[in-house]
Amino acid sequence: MEQYDRPKTTAPLNQTAQMLQTRRIPLMNPVLDQEMIEAALHALQNEKFVMGESVHKFEEEFAKYCGTRYAISTGSGTAALQIALESLGIVSTDTVLTTPFSFIATSNAIIHAGATPEFADADPTDFNLNARDAEMRMTERTKAIMPVHLYGRPCRMDEFQALAHKKGVKLIEDACQAHGAEYMGKRIGSFGDAACFSFYPSKNMTVGGDGGMITTNDENVAEAARCLTDCGREGNSKYAMSRIGYTSRLNSVNAAIGRIELKRLDGWNLARRRLAALYRRELDNLDKIELPTEDKTQSRSVYHLFVIRSPIRDLIKSRLATHGIETGVHYPIPIHLQAPYRKIYGYSEGAFPTSELLAREVLSLPLHANMKEEEVKIVCERLREAVQN
Ligand SMILES: Cc1ncc(COP(=O)(O)O)c(C=O)c1O
Repeated sequence: MEQYDRPKTTAPLNQTAQMLQTRRIPLMNPVLDQEMIEAALHALQNEKFVMGESVHKFEEEFAKYCGTRYAISTGSGTAALQIALESLGIVSTDTVLTTPFSFIATSNAIIHAGATPEFADADPTDFNLNARDAEMRMTERTKAIMPVHLYGRPCRMDEFQALAHKKGVKLIEDACQAHGAEYMGKRIGSFGDAACFSFYPSKNMTVGGDGGMITTNDENVAEAARCLTDCGREGNSKYAMSRIGYTSRLNSVNAAIGRIELKRLDGWNLARRRLAALYRRELDNLDKIELPTEDKTQSRSVYHLFVIRSPIRDLIKSRLATHGIETGVHYPIPIHLQAPYRKIYGYSEGAFPTSELLAREVLSLPLHANMKEEEVKIVCERLREAVQN
Protein backbone atom coordinates (compact mmCIF):
# COMPACT_ATOMS: atom_id res chain seq x y z
CA MET A 1 0.00 0.00 0.00
CA GLU A 2 1.22 3.45 -0.83
CA GLN A 3 0.59 6.88 0.57
CA TYR A 4 -1.22 8.85 -2.10
CA ASP A 5 -1.78 12.51 -2.78
CA ARG A 6 -5.24 13.99 -2.50
CA PRO A 7 -7.04 13.67 -5.86
CA LYS A 8 -6.74 16.71 -8.07
CA THR A 9 -10.07 18.32 -8.87
CA THR A 10 -10.68 19.96 -12.24
CA ALA A 11 -10.73 23.43 -10.60
CA PRO A 12 -8.22 25.79 -12.28
CA LEU A 13 -4.84 26.11 -10.56
CA ASN A 14 -2.90 29.29 -10.19
CA GLN A 15 0.45 29.54 -11.94
CA THR A 16 2.65 28.74 -8.96
CA ALA A 17 0.58 25.71 -8.07
CA GLN A 18 0.86 24.54 -11.68
CA MET A 19 4.63 24.94 -11.64
CA LEU A 20 4.92 23.07 -8.39
CA GLN A 21 2.82 20.26 -9.78
CA THR A 22 4.75 19.90 -13.01
CA ARG A 23 8.10 19.79 -11.20
CA ARG A 24 7.18 16.47 -9.71
CA ILE A 25 6.18 13.19 -11.33
CA PRO A 26 4.05 11.29 -8.81
CA LEU A 27 3.93 7.53 -8.55
CA MET A 28 0.13 7.53 -8.73
CA ASN A 29 -2.62 10.12 -9.03
CA PRO A 30 -6.23 9.32 -8.05
CA VAL A 31 -8.88 11.21 -10.03
CA LEU A 32 -11.84 13.15 -8.66
CA ASP A 33 -13.86 14.87 -11.37
CA GLN A 34 -17.07 16.88 -11.50
CA GLU A 35 -19.28 13.90 -12.35
CA MET A 36 -18.01 12.02 -9.30
CA ILE A 37 -18.50 15.03 -7.04
CA GLU A 38 -22.07 15.48 -8.29
CA ALA A 39 -22.86 11.77 -7.90
CA ALA A 40 -21.50 11.83 -4.34
CA LEU A 41 -23.51 14.92 -3.45
CA HIS A 42 -26.65 13.45 -4.95
CA ALA A 43 -26.24 10.25 -2.90
CA LEU A 44 -25.53 12.23 0.25
CA GLN A 45 -28.64 14.36 -0.13
CA ASN A 46 -31.06 11.71 -1.38
CA GLU A 47 -30.09 8.28 -0.07
CA LYS A 48 -29.62 6.47 3.22
CA PHE A 49 -26.01 7.18 4.26
CA VAL A 50 -25.18 3.47 4.42
CA MET A 51 -26.35 0.74 2.02
CA GLY A 52 -28.47 3.14 -0.05
CA GLU A 53 -29.61 2.64 -3.63
CA SER A 54 -26.14 3.45 -5.02
CA VAL A 55 -24.65 0.56 -3.04
CA HIS A 56 -27.09 -1.97 -4.52
CA LYS A 57 -26.58 -0.62 -8.03
CA PHE A 58 -22.80 -0.62 -7.63
CA GLU A 59 -22.88 -4.26 -6.49
CA GLU A 60 -25.06 -5.27 -9.45
CA GLU A 61 -22.85 -3.44 -11.92
CA PHE A 62 -19.64 -4.80 -10.41
CA ALA A 63 -20.92 -8.38 -10.55
CA LYS A 64 -21.92 -7.90 -14.18
CA TYR A 65 -18.53 -6.41 -14.98
CA CYS A 66 -16.69 -9.39 -13.45
CA GLY A 67 -19.09 -11.92 -14.95
CA THR A 68 -20.23 -13.29 -11.57
CA ARG A 69 -23.71 -13.81 -10.17
CA TYR A 70 -23.07 -11.87 -6.96
CA ALA A 71 -21.01 -8.97 -5.64
CA ILE A 72 -21.12 -7.95 -1.99
CA SER A 73 -19.55 -4.66 -0.94
CA THR A 74 -17.49 -4.32 2.23
CA GLY A 75 -15.68 -1.62 4.20
CA SER A 76 -12.23 -2.51 2.78
CA GLY A 77 -10.31 -5.10 0.77
CA THR A 78 -8.96 -6.62 3.97
CA ALA A 79 -12.50 -7.04 5.29
CA ALA A 80 -13.53 -8.56 1.94
CA LEU A 81 -10.80 -11.21 2.27
CA GLN A 82 -11.62 -12.00 5.88
CA ILE A 83 -15.36 -12.20 5.26
CA ALA A 84 -14.90 -14.29 2.08
CA LEU A 85 -12.80 -16.80 4.05
CA GLU A 86 -15.36 -17.02 6.83
CA SER A 87 -18.20 -17.33 4.31
CA LEU A 88 -16.38 -20.26 2.71
CA GLY A 89 -16.34 -22.03 6.07
CA ILE A 90 -12.68 -21.51 7.01
CA VAL A 91 -12.29 -22.09 10.76
CA SER A 92 -9.60 -21.85 13.43
CA THR A 93 -8.10 -25.31 12.87
CA ASP A 94 -7.53 -24.55 9.16
CA THR A 95 -4.56 -23.09 7.35
CA VAL A 96 -4.77 -20.99 4.21
CA LEU A 97 -1.89 -20.96 1.75
CA THR A 98 -0.80 -17.72 0.12
CA THR A 99 2.26 -15.79 -1.05
CA PRO A 100 4.63 -13.88 1.25
CA PHE A 101 5.29 -11.43 -1.61
CA SER A 102 2.18 -9.25 -1.28
CA PHE A 103 0.80 -6.46 0.84
CA ILE A 104 0.54 -7.69 4.43
CA ALA A 105 -3.29 -7.42 4.43
CA THR A 106 -3.43 -10.58 2.29
CA SER A 107 -2.30 -12.80 5.14
CA ASN A 108 -3.54 -10.59 7.99
CA ALA A 109 -7.05 -11.34 6.68
CA ILE A 110 -6.40 -15.07 7.17
CA ILE A 111 -5.49 -14.41 10.81
CA HIS A 112 -8.50 -12.11 11.26
CA ALA A 113 -10.67 -14.99 10.01
CA GLY A 114 -9.23 -17.09 12.85
CA ALA A 115 -7.11 -19.38 10.67
CA THR A 116 -3.33 -19.75 10.23
CA PRO A 117 -1.51 -18.38 7.18
CA GLU A 118 1.07 -20.58 5.47
CA PHE A 119 3.22 -19.53 2.56
CA ALA A 120 4.73 -20.81 -0.67
CA ASP A 121 7.32 -18.81 -2.58
CA ALA A 122 6.76 -16.38 -5.44
CA ASP A 123 7.48 -17.34 -9.04
CA PRO A 124 10.53 -15.44 -10.40
CA THR A 125 8.90 -14.93 -13.82
CA ASP A 126 5.62 -13.26 -12.87
CA PHE A 127 6.22 -12.61 -9.11
CA ASN A 128 2.88 -14.30 -8.31
CA LEU A 129 2.41 -17.35 -6.09
CA ASN A 130 4.23 -20.37 -7.55
CA ALA A 131 1.65 -23.13 -8.03
CA ARG A 132 4.21 -25.93 -7.92
CA ASP A 133 5.72 -24.70 -4.65
CA ALA A 134 2.18 -24.21 -3.30
CA GLU A 135 1.35 -27.85 -4.02
CA MET A 136 4.51 -29.05 -2.30
CA ARG A 137 3.86 -27.03 0.83
CA MET A 138 0.19 -27.89 1.30
CA THR A 139 -0.63 -30.04 4.33
CA GLU A 140 -3.63 -31.89 5.73
CA ARG A 141 -4.71 -28.68 7.42
CA THR A 142 -4.66 -26.55 4.25
CA LYS A 143 -8.27 -25.76 3.46
CA ALA A 144 -7.86 -22.92 0.97
CA ILE A 145 -5.38 -21.38 -1.48
CA MET A 146 -5.27 -17.64 -1.95
CA PRO A 147 -3.20 -16.47 -4.95
CA VAL A 148 -2.74 -12.71 -5.39
CA HIS A 149 -2.89 -11.02 -8.81
CA LEU A 150 0.05 -8.85 -7.86
CA TYR A 151 0.57 -5.50 -9.62
CA GLY A 152 -2.56 -6.24 -11.72
CA ARG A 153 -0.99 -9.26 -13.42
CA PRO A 154 -3.32 -12.28 -13.51
CA CYS A 155 -2.12 -15.46 -11.80
CA ARG A 156 -2.21 -18.60 -13.93
CA MET A 157 -5.68 -19.45 -12.67
CA ASP A 158 -6.04 -22.70 -14.65
CA GLU A 159 -3.15 -24.11 -12.58
CA PHE A 160 -4.71 -22.96 -9.30
CA GLN A 161 -8.17 -24.22 -10.26
CA ALA A 162 -6.63 -27.65 -11.06
CA LEU A 163 -4.69 -27.65 -7.77
CA ALA A 164 -7.73 -26.64 -5.68
CA HIS A 165 -9.80 -29.32 -7.40
CA LYS A 166 -7.14 -32.01 -6.92
CA LYS A 167 -6.72 -31.23 -3.21
CA GLY A 168 -10.39 -30.52 -2.52
CA VAL A 169 -9.72 -27.04 -1.09
CA LYS A 170 -11.30 -23.62 -1.63
CA LEU A 171 -9.82 -21.09 -4.03
CA ILE A 172 -9.95 -17.37 -3.20
CA GLU A 173 -8.51 -14.72 -5.52
CA ASP A 174 -6.90 -11.71 -3.90
CA ALA A 175 -7.82 -9.38 -6.74
CA CYS A 176 -7.23 -6.22 -4.69
CA GLN A 177 -4.79 -4.93 -7.35
CA ALA A 178 -6.40 -6.35 -10.47
CA HIS A 179 -9.71 -4.66 -11.32
CA GLY A 180 -10.44 -5.46 -14.96
CA ALA A 181 -7.54 -7.85 -15.59
CA GLU A 182 -8.32 -10.87 -17.78
CA TYR A 183 -7.19 -14.46 -18.04
CA MET A 184 -8.23 -16.85 -20.82
CA GLY A 185 -10.84 -14.34 -22.01
CA LYS A 186 -12.50 -14.00 -18.59
CA ARG A 187 -12.31 -11.20 -16.07
CA ILE A 188 -10.34 -11.75 -12.89
CA GLY A 189 -12.77 -12.19 -10.01
CA SER A 190 -14.67 -15.03 -11.63
CA PHE A 191 -12.18 -17.93 -11.27
CA GLY A 192 -12.27 -18.82 -7.58
CA ASP A 193 -14.97 -19.80 -5.10
CA ALA A 194 -14.74 -16.10 -4.25
CA ALA A 195 -12.59 -13.12 -5.17
CA CYS A 196 -11.87 -9.90 -3.29
CA PHE A 197 -11.19 -6.36 -4.47
CA SER A 198 -9.96 -3.24 -2.69
CA PHE A 199 -10.98 0.32 -3.54
CA TYR A 200 -8.21 1.93 -1.51
CA PRO A 201 -7.44 5.25 -3.28
CA SER A 202 -4.21 4.07 -4.93
CA LYS A 203 -6.00 1.29 -6.85
CA ASN A 204 -6.95 1.33 -10.58
CA MET A 205 -10.44 2.32 -9.45
CA THR A 206 -11.53 3.64 -6.09
CA VAL A 207 -14.67 4.84 -4.31
CA GLY A 208 -13.24 8.08 -2.95
CA GLY A 209 -12.32 6.37 0.31
CA ASP A 210 -11.90 2.88 1.72
CA GLY A 211 -14.07 0.08 0.36
CA GLY A 212 -13.99 -3.49 -0.90
CA MET A 213 -15.99 -6.05 -2.85
CA ILE A 214 -16.44 -9.83 -2.79
CA THR A 215 -17.47 -11.54 -6.04
CA THR A 216 -18.79 -15.10 -6.19
CA ASN A 217 -21.10 -17.39 -8.14
CA ASP A 218 -22.09 -19.32 -5.03
CA GLU A 219 -25.42 -18.28 -3.54
CA ASN A 220 -24.57 -19.62 -0.07
CA VAL A 221 -21.27 -17.75 0.03
CA ALA A 222 -23.01 -14.57 -1.12
CA GLU A 223 -25.67 -14.92 1.58
CA ALA A 224 -23.13 -15.60 4.32
CA ALA A 225 -20.98 -12.67 3.20
CA ARG A 226 -23.94 -10.29 3.08
CA CYS A 227 -24.94 -11.36 6.58
CA LEU A 228 -21.39 -11.01 7.98
CA THR A 229 -20.89 -7.50 6.54
CA ASP A 230 -24.11 -6.35 8.18
CA CYS A 231 -23.69 -7.30 11.87
CA GLY A 232 -24.84 -10.89 11.26
CA ARG A 233 -28.43 -9.90 10.37
CA GLU A 234 -30.73 -12.71 9.31
CA GLY A 235 -32.10 -11.63 5.89
CA ASN A 236 -34.06 -8.38 6.13
CA SER A 237 -34.65 -8.70 9.85
CA LYS A 238 -33.69 -5.75 12.01
CA TYR A 239 -32.61 -7.49 15.21
CA ALA A 240 -32.60 -11.24 14.54
CA MET A 241 -28.99 -12.32 13.98
CA SER A 242 -27.77 -15.60 12.56
CA ARG A 243 -23.99 -15.05 12.77
CA ILE A 244 -21.41 -13.09 14.76
CA GLY A 245 -21.07 -10.39 12.14
CA TYR A 246 -19.20 -7.17 11.53
CA THR A 247 -20.00 -3.60 10.65
CA SER A 248 -18.28 -3.62 7.27
CA ARG A 249 -20.69 -2.02 4.83
CA LEU A 250 -20.11 0.50 2.07
CA ASN A 251 -21.32 4.09 2.37
CA SER A 252 -23.73 5.30 -0.32
CA VAL A 253 -21.51 8.27 -1.19
CA ASN A 254 -18.59 5.93 -1.84
CA ALA A 255 -20.71 3.59 -3.95
CA ALA A 256 -21.96 6.54 -6.03
CA ILE A 257 -18.34 7.47 -6.82
CA GLY A 258 -17.50 3.81 -7.45
CA ARG A 259 -20.26 3.54 -10.07
CA ILE A 260 -18.73 6.39 -12.07
CA GLU A 261 -15.22 4.98 -11.71
CA LEU A 262 -16.37 1.55 -12.88
CA LYS A 263 -17.59 3.14 -16.11
CA ARG A 264 -14.14 4.66 -16.61
CA LEU A 265 -12.15 1.59 -15.61
CA ASP A 266 -11.64 0.00 -19.04
CA GLY A 267 -10.48 3.31 -20.54
CA TRP A 268 -8.08 3.90 -17.65
CA ASN A 269 -6.70 0.36 -17.91
CA LEU A 270 -6.16 0.82 -21.64
CA ALA A 271 -4.23 4.03 -20.94
CA ARG A 272 -2.11 2.16 -18.35
CA ARG A 273 -1.34 -0.61 -20.85
CA ARG A 274 -0.27 1.92 -23.49
CA LEU A 275 2.01 3.72 -21.04
CA ALA A 276 3.47 0.38 -19.94
CA ALA A 277 4.20 -0.44 -23.60
CA LEU A 278 5.96 2.93 -23.94
CA TYR A 279 8.07 2.18 -20.85
CA ARG A 280 9.05 -1.13 -22.45
CA ARG A 281 10.09 0.50 -25.73
CA GLU A 282 12.08 3.21 -23.97
CA LEU A 283 13.83 0.90 -21.49
CA ASP A 284 14.47 -2.07 -23.75
CA ASN A 285 17.93 -3.61 -23.29
CA LEU A 286 18.99 -1.22 -20.56
CA ASP A 287 21.86 -2.58 -18.51
CA LYS A 288 21.10 -3.54 -14.86
CA ILE A 289 17.34 -3.27 -15.43
CA GLU A 290 14.93 -6.15 -15.86
CA LEU A 291 11.52 -5.25 -17.26
CA PRO A 292 8.35 -7.07 -16.18
CA THR A 293 7.72 -10.06 -18.43
CA GLU A 294 5.16 -9.40 -21.17
CA ASP A 295 1.65 -10.81 -20.95
CA LYS A 296 1.23 -14.26 -22.42
CA THR A 297 -1.53 -14.51 -25.04
CA GLN A 298 -4.11 -15.75 -22.52
CA SER A 299 -3.40 -12.97 -20.01
CA ARG A 300 -4.18 -9.23 -19.89
CA SER A 301 -2.55 -7.24 -17.08
CA VAL A 302 -3.96 -3.93 -15.92
CA TYR A 303 -0.64 -2.52 -14.68
CA HIS A 304 -1.76 -1.42 -11.26
CA LEU A 305 2.00 -0.93 -10.99
CA PHE A 306 4.83 -1.01 -13.54
CA VAL A 307 7.60 -2.78 -11.66
CA ILE A 308 11.18 -3.18 -12.82
CA ARG A 309 13.94 -5.14 -11.11
CA SER A 310 17.48 -4.00 -10.48
CA PRO A 311 20.38 -5.00 -8.22
CA ILE A 312 21.03 -1.24 -7.74
CA ARG A 313 17.38 -0.48 -6.92
CA ASP A 314 18.04 1.84 -3.95
CA LEU A 315 20.59 3.91 -5.87
CA ILE A 316 18.18 4.34 -8.80
CA LYS A 317 15.36 5.26 -6.43
CA SER A 318 17.35 7.99 -4.73
CA ARG A 319 18.70 9.36 -8.03
CA LEU A 320 15.20 9.62 -9.49
CA ALA A 321 13.99 11.32 -6.30
CA THR A 322 16.52 14.12 -6.78
CA HIS A 323 14.73 14.90 -10.07
CA GLY A 324 11.30 14.96 -8.41
CA ILE A 325 10.39 11.51 -9.71
CA GLU A 326 8.53 9.49 -7.11
CA THR A 327 8.94 5.72 -7.15
CA GLY A 328 7.74 2.98 -4.82
CA VAL A 329 8.85 -0.39 -3.46
CA HIS A 330 6.08 -2.97 -3.38
CA TYR A 331 7.14 -4.51 -1.06
CA PRO A 332 10.46 -4.06 0.74
CA ILE A 333 9.76 -6.70 3.44
CA PRO A 334 8.11 -10.00 2.52
CA ILE A 335 5.23 -10.80 4.84
CA HIS A 336 6.94 -13.71 6.63
CA LEU A 337 9.77 -11.36 7.70
CA GLN A 338 7.47 -8.70 9.16
CA ALA A 339 7.95 -8.42 12.94
CA PRO A 340 4.65 -10.00 14.06
CA TYR A 341 5.10 -12.96 11.69
CA ARG A 342 8.65 -13.59 12.89
CA LYS A 343 7.41 -13.39 16.47
CA ILE A 344 4.24 -15.45 16.17
CA TYR A 345 5.24 -18.05 13.56
CA GLY A 346 9.03 -18.05 13.96
CA TYR A 347 9.94 -17.19 10.37
CA SER A 348 13.45 -16.01 9.51
CA GLU A 349 15.56 -15.13 6.45
CA GLY A 350 15.95 -17.81 3.80
CA ALA A 351 12.48 -19.33 4.17
CA PHE A 352 11.26 -17.98 0.80
CA PRO A 353 14.34 -16.98 -1.22
CA THR A 354 12.60 -15.67 -4.37
CA SER A 355 10.30 -13.39 -2.38
CA GLU A 356 13.26 -12.14 -0.34
CA LEU A 357 15.31 -11.39 -3.47
CA LEU A 358 12.37 -9.61 -5.14
CA ALA A 359 11.89 -7.49 -2.01
CA ARG A 360 15.48 -6.24 -2.44
CA GLU A 361 15.23 -5.54 -6.17
CA VAL A 362 11.74 -4.37 -7.20
CA LEU A 363 11.03 -0.73 -8.05
CA SER A 364 7.65 0.68 -9.10
CA LEU A 365 7.86 3.50 -11.65
CA PRO A 366 5.26 6.28 -11.88
CA LEU A 367 2.13 5.11 -13.68
CA HIS A 368 -1.45 6.34 -13.68
CA ALA A 369 -4.15 6.65 -16.30
CA ASN A 370 -3.71 10.40 -16.81
CA MET A 371 0.06 10.32 -17.02
CA LYS A 372 1.45 12.00 -20.13
CA GLU A 373 3.72 10.17 -22.58
CA GLU A 374 6.24 12.99 -22.12
CA GLU A 375 6.36 12.21 -18.41
CA VAL A 376 7.11 8.54 -19.12
CA LYS A 377 9.90 9.68 -21.45
CA ILE A 378 11.34 11.97 -18.75
CA VAL A 379 11.31 9.10 -16.22
CA CYS A 380 13.08 6.85 -18.76
CA GLU A 381 15.67 9.50 -19.61
CA ARG A 382 16.47 10.02 -15.92
CA LEU A 383 16.52 6.28 -15.35
CA ARG A 384 19.04 5.77 -18.16
CA GLU A 385 21.26 8.46 -16.59
CA ALA A 386 20.86 6.88 -13.15
CA VAL A 387 21.98 3.49 -14.42
CA GLN A 388 24.83 4.70 -16.62
CA ASN A 389 26.56 7.19 -14.30
C1 LIG B 1 -2.83 -7.42 -2.58
C2 LIG B 1 -3.67 -6.68 -1.57
N1 LIG B 1 -4.45 -7.39 -0.74
C3 LIG B 1 -5.23 -6.77 0.17
C4 LIG B 1 -5.27 -5.41 0.28
C5 LIG B 1 -6.13 -4.77 1.34
O1 LIG B 1 -7.04 -3.86 0.85
P1 LIG B 1 -7.55 -2.62 1.76
O2 LIG B 1 -6.43 -1.67 1.88
O3 LIG B 1 -8.71 -2.06 0.99
O4 LIG B 1 -7.96 -3.19 3.05
C6 LIG B 1 -4.50 -4.64 -0.58
C7 LIG B 1 -4.57 -3.16 -0.52
O5 LIG B 1 -3.76 -2.39 -0.34
C8 LIG B 1 -3.66 -5.28 -1.53
O6 LIG B 1 -2.87 -4.58 -2.35
